Amino acid sequence: MNAIVISYPGNESLTASIAKGINGKIGEIQMRRFPDGETYVRLVTDVLDKPVLIIASLHRPDDKFLSLVFLLRLVKDAGAASVTLIAPYVAYMRQDKQFKPGEAVTSAYFGELLSPYIDKMITVDPHLHRRKSMNEVYTAPCIVLHASRAISTWIKNSVANAVLIGPDSESEQWVSQVAKEADAPYFILNKERHGDRNVEISFPETSSFRERTPVLVDDIISTAHTMIVTVKRLLELGFNKPICIGVHAIFADNSHRELQDAGAAKIVTCNTIVHSSNGIDLSPLIIEALQ
Ligand code: R5P
Repeated sequence: MNAIVISYPGNESLTASIAKGINGKIGEIQMRRFPDGETYVRLVTDVLDKPVLIIASLHRPDDKFLSLVFLLRLVKDAGAASVTLIAPYVAYMRQDKQFKPGEAVTSAYFGELLSPYIDKMITVDPHLHRRKSMNEVYTAPCIVLHASRAISTWIKNSVANAVLIGPDSESEQWVSQVAKEADAPYFILNKERHGDRNVEISFPETSSFRERTPVLVDDIISTAHTMIVTVKRLLELGFNKPICIGVHAIFADNSHRELQDAGAAKIVTCNTIVHSSNGIDLSPLIIEALQ
């Protein structure tokens, strides 16, 4: 493919795996803050007429958006044949409607701001709930990859006698797929969110699953309150300590520790966001999509 693969700072490990997998060359950049807080970006590698892949997971987007746009624009100005953004996690997808009058629908605003700088985007399990496709939000073409196969393989190899649990109705789309591939039963909970950290969960009848190992599967773990409330309720109901699996390990503030303290037996995430809980490597999925 002859591509140049550039890591936005913090994505070096995934960048190295992808570059190796596609036989690409890692591109060098320099990025730092000037003393006044503005951003300095320099492209060291020659990208003229080459396809360029930029690896940048977009959690904490407000901290990195401007410098990322500078980088994308710089690469284009340097004559790259194409600029593909590999953003394993895409931010702002949850604010996809006005929940209260006057709110900004920031998923659309974010998509509009980013799209002009990229020829293509590749992402993993974006939070598509009310939107059916990324192209309702991004004008640049998007390839959406799914972590379900990697997660089900991990479950098959690591958990005996699992029952999968989706915390809310929207999770059914991926939990049912993971359960099918892992050859395990599943059930879905009902969730009502009253605030960032105020989540109420109700359970269906689950007595037939009590002897199994509960495995919670969600796309995003942010405050972890969805999982914390679920873990506590599972323990009250007499289940074994559950395993918590998330695709995107945001883990705001102290939430990873809070989830451990709530009684999770193990917390495992995919490496779409670098975190100590990463245990499921999605670089083969991304490499396959690039080939
Ligand atoms: C909800 O729409 C998502 O699928 C996740 O359930 C949610 O983002 C988890 O958030 P938190 O960890 O803050 O409860």
